[in-house]
Amino acid sequence: MSSPTPAPPDRDPIPQAARPATTPPPWPQTWILKVIMAVTGSIFVAFLLFHLAGNLKVFLGAEDFNHYAEWLRTLLNPLIPGSGFLWAFRGVMVASLVLHVYSGTTIWLRARRARGVHARKFLLRRIGSRTMFWTGLIILCFIVFHILDLTMGKVVAAPGFDPGDPYSNLIHSFSRPPVAIFYGLTMALIAVHISHGIWSVVNDLGGTGKRLRNVVFAVAGLIALVVVCGNLAIPVAVQAGILTVG
Ligand code: HEM
Repeated sequence: MSSPTPAPPDRDPIPQAARPATTPPPWPQTWILKVIMAVTGSIFVAFLLFHLAGNLKVFLGAEDFNHYAEWLRTLLNPLIPGSGFLWAFRGVMVASLVLHVYSGTTIWLRARRARGVHARKFLLRRIGSRTMFWTGLIILCFIVFHILDLTMGKVVAAPGFDPGDPYSNLIHSFSRPPVAIFYGLTMALIAVHISHGIWSVVNDLGGTGKRLRNVVFAVAGLIALVVVCGNLAIPVAVQAGILTVG
């Protein structure tokens, strides 16, 4: 009489074939994309503050503004000849933009795919990420318009664009009411985008304490407010006749 031999204790009782299939994490992993968003987003916020400081020189008059634009083109001369620094800077900005748009779109698409019927009920949670995608898309269109308008003087630029006179180009461009309104509206969207962006960066990096959240909320709001009000003042001043060419 022989009793059945018990299975050795270390043997896997569930055959491999019967296990539920596990999907490997998508590549690049979402945390990597979020770090890229945080780094490139911070570069843009720094650029916006720097750009604002330069833009506000328009209130000092044509000479100061054009001198600043010239300074920017010849920065670090003669160490880096010609407009070398400006082109290096442009390279960093374009690379950051490509990475930012790629990471943002990928995260957005993954979140959409992962969202089940029940999660759709959480409307408030959705609003943040939804507005980030759409405001980001409009800002991207704005950047294309803006470079054609004031840097290249093509297609959408005001008549009589002169590469040697950025001040007049700016005033002529903002004298067109639809363009002034477009700039104004975009500044408001930029404020929404960067305030939510700064907030997300701190959350993603693990900043969840109540005090830290309050500080971040205030700082993000302040940066957004400074950027929007400072830049908005320019089309408003042109439309009000405070800034003129003559
Ligand atoms: C009312 C607000 C703004 C004004 C008055 C303004 C003004 C200008 C001017 C005059 C230039 C041309 C400089 C030159 O070629 O000499 C320029 C370039 C540029 N602006 Fe703005 N800007 C404003 C807002 C913005 C915003 C919100 C962004 C980003 C979202 C932005 C991004 C750029 C970029 C990427 C360039 C091209 C820089 C280059 O490679 O030469 N600007 N801006």
